[in-house]
Amino acid sequence: MKVIREPREMQQTALTLRDKAIRIGLVPTMGAFHDGHVSLMRRAKQENDVCVVSLFVNPLQFNDPADLERYPRNEAADLEIARSVGADILFTPSAAAMYPPDAQTFVEVTRVSQPLCGGQRPGHFRGVATVVAKLFMITLPRRAYFGLKDYQQCRVIAQMARDLYFPPDLVFCPTVREADGLAMSSRNARLTPEDRRAATVLPRALELAQSRFADGERDPSVIQALVRERLLTEPRAGIEYVEVVDAQTLEPIAEIAQPALVAIAARFGDIRLIDSVALTPPSPEPEPLAPDPLDTSDVPHRVAPRA
Ligand code: PAJ
Repeated sequence: MKVIREPREMQQTALTLRDKAIRIGLVPTMGAFHDGHVSLMRRAKQENDVCVVSLFVNPLQFNDPADLERYPRNEAADLEIARSVGADILFTPSAAAMYPPDAQTFVEVTRVSQPLCGGQRPGHFRGVATVVAKLFMITLPRRAYFGLKDYQQCRVIAQMARDLYFPPDLVFCPTVREADGLAMSSRNARLTPEDRRAATVLPRALELAQSRFADGERDPSVIQALVRERLLTEPRAGIEYVEVVDAQTLEPIAEIAQPALVAIAARFGDIRLIDSVALTPPSPEPEPLAPDPLDTSDVPHRVAPRA
């Protein structure tokens, strides 16, 4: 596995590969790898000729400087994990290289960035969209891989790619969970043992939403209240939001008639965790076709009786 730190060198390498029709699969990350990251790397490796993993703790997407300061960093361990999964290139630039002091260009995705985490973390998705746009231009991937654990991030990136005609195919991958259901996150390692236990209330609350939905509940406010009540049974959970929204637009809905998303953000101590689950109504049975009176294809041929 080659480690590249300079954006120009990475872009030159990507251009050379592209000229030889070698397809790059990109996995953008901020490091502190866990099995969620590894699942994206495996898939990128399988589906492309070359797997590029980017490791960059993007200062532009941290609205809280203390959060940036505390973000777990362990390059040596990450290098080893990426290598063992079979990544071909680890691209790990400096903040100064990605954001030189004279940089003036940023990417802003408007509507879909505003609800849910957008309300709690001003500027966060502008930072995500900007860095992902840069990573696309630097690594020139054929496909790029993202985790549905960060569902709104997936929607923001999909909207950006569509609006700006970005060429890579985007591949959104399922959330990888711990044995007790907690979604894997680089932040989990910083939970106290008590908060780690308490945090399982997030998947439990989402499972409750799923089972009520499976029983036929289609009122988003009923599901929202149920999830909120379940979270309130855990005094260590500080709820930031519980929302049931349209899975495409992330806007409020009156009824779950289209795919919806149940999304939670909650704090355990100073650690903010998010989780979500999609609720997809089964597609209606196709209407039986009205019989065509002129169609005789299935009328058995009468055999004229012998004279
Ligand atoms: P990071 O939190 O390091 O996550 C990197 C990728 O791994 C993201 O696409 C994220 O959704 C995915 N991921 C994280 N936890 C996962 C889990 N439990 N299961 C499946 N996938 C998971 O997300 C970012 O970094 C940054 O915002 C980034 C996109 C790199 C831009 O800076």
